[in-house]
Amino acid sequence: MSIERCKIIDLPKIHDPRGNLTSIEGGVHIPFDIQRVYYLYDVPGGSERGGHAHKELQQLIVAMSGSFDVLLDDGRKKKRYHLNRSYSGLYVCPMIWRELDNFSSGSVCMVLASSHYDESDYFRDYQQFLNAAGVL
Ligand code: TYD
Repeated sequence: MSIERCKIIDLPKIHDPRGNLTSIEGGVHIPFDIQRVYYLYDVPGGSERGGHAHKELQQLIVAMSGSFDVLLDDGRKKKRYHLNRSYSGLYVCPMIWRELDNFSSGSVCMVLASSHYDESDYFRDYQQFLNAAGVL
């Protein structure tokens, strides 16, 4: 699928002197129902995460604290995003290879996902991903 379908989604931000609030409703603010939430934390400096693509899974990636980079790749085109706001998320459509790096100290990466964890939905081999994407 084309990398052009991936985009930054600005989430609602309710300003309040007591502290700001952001909510995310599946099917409303993001184009899928949320079946799973997971987060990366205590990431050592210099670590890289990701390094795979999903056949069907859709995701929204949010920097809840700190910052990191997400490199997206549809087999033809690559795009790097720097995430550092808890009120904006990166929507990642199916069939996109992703790599996460440049984690700042104390950063937390939250991912909202359209399905439960399913290892058979992964491409963990880049060449197999390119084959399936019709690039090779
Ligand atoms: P992986 O998806 O490779 O992590 P990342 O893309 O962030 O580098 O998953 C790492 C391990 O965690 C792998 O053994 C599968 C397991 N895992 C789950 O059990 N449930 C989940 O929801 C996720 C995302 C991973």
